[in-house]
Order: sequence, then C-alpha cells, then structure tokens
Amino acid sequence: MKALVLSGGSGTRLRPLTHTSAKQLVPVANKPILFYVLEGIADAGVTDVGIVVGDTAEEIRAAVGDGSRFGISVTYIPQHQPLGLAHAVRTARAWLGEDDFVMYLGDNFLLGGISAQLEEFRIRRPAAQIMLTRVPNPSAFGVATLDDTGRVRVLEEKPEFPKSDLALVGVYFFTPVVHAAVDAIQPSARGELEITDAIQWLLDQNLPVTSSTVDGYWKDTGNATDMLEVNRSVLESLAPRCEGAVDDESELVGRVVIEKGAVIVRSRIVGPAVVGGGTRVEGSYIGPFTSVGEDCTIADSEIEYSIVLAGTAIDGVRRIEASMIGRQVRVTPAPRSPQAHRLILGDHSKVQIRS
Ligand code: G1P
Repeated sequence: MKALVLSGGSGTRLRPLTHTSAKQLVPVANKPILFYVLEGIADAGVTDVGIVVGDTAEEIRAAVGDGSRFGISVTYIPQHQPLGLAHAVRTARAWLGEDDFVMYLGDNFLLGGISAQLEEFRIRRPAAQIMLTRVPNPSAFGVATLDDTGRVRVLEEKPEFPKSDLALVGVYFFTPVVHAAVDAIQPSARGELEITDAIQWLLDQNLPVTSSTVDGYWKDTGNATDMLEVNRSVLESLAPRCEGAVDDESELVGRVVIEKGAVIVRSRIVGPAVVGGGTRVEGSYIGPFTSVGEDCTIADSEIEYSIVLAGTAIDGVRRIEASMIGRQVRVTPAPRSPQAHRLILGDHSKVQIRS
C-alpha cells in the first residue's frame, strides 16, 4: 500500500491568510494542512509516500524534507503542468507500480484521519473507494448520486445543477485498475483530466466503487469563516503544554499550548489557544480558539477566536475578534479618531457609528 499526496497546483489562487503560494502549507492551529495529511497517512500505517509537486515544489520540499519526522519515506514526483488529478496519477504511474494506493489531496483536511477507511478498503478491495460529505455548495466539488440502496451511481465534476449535496472528499483508495481508467478518459471542459471521470469510467465498466460518508471535513477555500471554524475544532482537542517562559503575573487557563521560546508577561491566556515559539505576549489577553504563530508580538492588546500568522505584531489594540491576520503584519491603533463622518447612505440604511 502506497500513498500519493497531491501538492501541485499552479499557486495562482490568492489566499487571504497567507502569501505562501503553496495552499497545502496554510496553517491550522499553527501547523500546515499538509502535515495533518502526512500524519494521517503515517497513523494509518502507510510509510511509502509519493508527493506530486508543481510550481511550488521548493516550498513543499523545504517544509516536508525526506518525511522522516513523520515516520514516512517521501519520494517527490514532479508534475510539469497542473493538468488534473487523473493526470497526476498518470504522472506517478512508474512510482505506483502495481500497488494499491490512497490518493490524498494535500489541501484537504479530515478530522479523525483515514485509518478506519483504509482498513475497510483493505478488507473489501473494491476498484475504488471514495469518501463523501454533505456540503452547502456542491457545485464547487465532485458530486455523487447514490441509488436507494446507497450504491454510487453517478459522479459529476462541479455540476452547475448538482443532483445531491454529497461532495467527493479529496481522499480516494484505488487498486491498480485505476490506471486503465486514467488512460481511458479525455480532458474535461476545464481542460483537466478529472479523477471524478476516471471513477465514473470504473462505474461504467461495472467495477465496484464503494463509498463512506464522513463529518469533520474541510478544504482550504480561502473562506475566513470556515478557516476559523476548522482552527476552532482542532484547538478543541489540543493537549495542554507549556514549554515557554510564563511570568508570575500571567495566567494560563484551560487547554493552552505555549511553544518553546515563547515569553508571556503580565497576560492572561484562556484556552483552547496556541502561542508559537519566539512569540512575546505582554500585558495582553488571548482568548479561546486563537492561534498565534511564531515570532509574533502581542502587546497591550486583546484577541480572541482568531488566527495570527508568523512574524506579526499587534500593539495597543483592544479587542480583535473572529479575525485572520497574515504574516509580518503590523496592527496598531489609529493615531486619532476621524473628525467627522462623511456618509452617502441609501434609503432605509441602518448604520451604527461609534461617536
Ligand atoms: C478536486 C476534485 C473534486 C473534489 C475536490 C475535493 O477539486 O476535482 O472532485 O471534490 O478536489 O477537494 P479541485 O480541488 O481540483 O477544485
């Protein structure tokens, strides 16, 4: 059993939280999504991992290395153009050989890992096993239609008029018969070889395709609300740990992680929250569901239910909530309040102004 992790992509989609061009390195609770993917694979007992990389190969290699710290052995497989998920399988053909494999999209986050699904696949060995989850916006995903008995009937990639709200999660289990499928299909309207079409080809050949439904799924869509929510759910299962320096005038309450090299002075931190190494928190309050990255400064400020990335300074700002703040940002109070409000308001507007 091998694992094929897809971490290519052209890197052109802008993310609000990070200017890193590799979306797989967007952090959740101070850890890149890709690391959760690799840990999930290692936990399921798969150690032979191929990572398909594109334009952002150097960033991915710098972050993951040879995989030894995850207990896996990583082979990098360059994909010269992002021509689709099925194209990535074609690209990895020689490395995959005749092994069964799990294909895991490096920007997908699954609470609870993949061990149970892998076990099920090992026992049943269908041609393909997919994972589905209910989403409010199925048009942004591959969508499955099941029959009355729960069997997968039809798969469609990003349909304009979805027939169900069951989206394909980016984790797929395959036997080597998938290679015939990825060779048989043609590019889709968006010019990509879709894995969705390859699995549909398996269905058309009457080969067994099984599915399971999962909760706790999230994909980096660049949506702040979703990102704060996934950060919240990961922080909730945090094991508290304090490896930094906390002075006597500070208080840590609940599930709080203070990484090595962090300094907490005259502050109150109410978990679940994590403070990265090299960060200084002084005269501040950090409230629940907050992740503060490495090498930040939080001084005379209050922040809650927020994500702050590495190298950022927040100084003298009372009450930041439900916010995402990228790397190397400076947040300070405005020098003075505006002298006047200039308003152009339409009929029936409702406006709240601090005055
Ligand atoms: C891809 C797949 C889609 C699947 C999604 C899950 O979409 O094509 O079927 O639902 O991953 O993340 P993409 O990331 O290429 O938009």
